[in-house]
Amino acid sequence: MRFEGKVAIVTGASSGIGRATAKLFAEEGAMVVAAARRMSRLEELRDKVAESGAPGRILPVKTDVRDPAQIEAMFDKCLEEFGHLDILVNNAGVLDGQLPVHLTDDEVYDLVYETNQKAVFLCCRRAVKIFLEQGTPANIVNVASAASLRGLKGGTMYVMTKHAVLGITRNISASYFERGIRCNCIEPANIQTDINKASKELGLGVLEWKLRAGNAAPMHTITKPGEKKPIMGKAKDCANAIAYLADDVAARYISGAEIKVDAGWLNM
Ligand SMILES: NC(=O)c1ccc[n+]([C@@H]2O[C@H](COP(=O)([O-])OP(=O)(O)OC[C@H]3O[C@@H](n4cnc5c(N)ncnc54)[C@H](OP(=O)(O)O)[C@@H]3O)[C@@H](O)[C@H]2O)c1
Repeated sequence: MRFEGKVAIVTGASSGIGRATAKLFAEEGAMVVAAARRMSRLEELRDKVAESGAPGRILPVKTDVRDPAQIEAMFDKCLEEFGHLDILVNNAGVLDGQLPVHLTDDEVYDLVYETNQKAVFLCCRRAVKIFLEQGTPANIVNVASAASLRGLKGGTMYVMTKHAVLGITRNISASYFERGIRCNCIEPANIQTDINKASKELGLGVLEWKLRAGNAAPMHTITKPGEKKPIMGKAKDCANAIAYLADDVAARYISGAEIKVDAGWLNM
């Protein structure tokens, strides 16, 4: 039970990587604030975890991370319910439909910037203030991306904001280790989740990537056009890496690390 007595916040916990992470943390003893907009999915997760007899617990907190007031309320709720916070996982994120810069309008800019970048900053800022006040070991795990490391073609906002996630990870790791705060990230690629579906529902369909970005979807910019698609990973593969980094015993001396969760794909 790596997380017995620990309290964690996981954003974007209603599906995919966030959901798998919240569930794993609770299975390992943590009290988990599971935040996202789709409350029914968070409640379903809470019930499933409770029925399984897991030692930890899921507290669903309806949160739109694009709204700074809702982020503050999420942290307030966590402290009100559990009295402290040990781990923050910044996971909520959206794709931008692989739009290249000349087709990225202000609406897409705001959507992707506020979700993937500004919210990460706001959550880190509040969490670090709490951690400093507590004075006990604490850490942040950010969900960056293969797009934190490559320029890709198209997907300007996704690439820009995921580079920023890597940037703040490095900055916090360098700034606070001696005060007991670690900050690390994972860089997933090709994980089977709803992320394409979610952006499609917003009218940012990845199906049109060829029209928008030329013959250059992200997959084909890292591998070569026409190459076979890589084997897909599972959300749990990311959750396992996040749990390792969030573990103050196993990863005690690790801060500023980037774990690629990509089956070696970024090295192709
Ligand atoms: N799948 C991959 O291959 C891959 C690769 C690299 C990086 N990532 C990153 O992994 C993270 C999780 O994505 P996923 O693949 O697990 O996709 P997903 O299944 O679509 O999950 C995205 C999560 O983000 C939440 N979210 C989106 N906008 C939000 C908002 N405004 N407020 C609160 N929550 C919000 C969604 O919850 P609600 O809709 O309920 O709010 C959902 O729980 C993202 O940061 C993504 O960029 C994924």
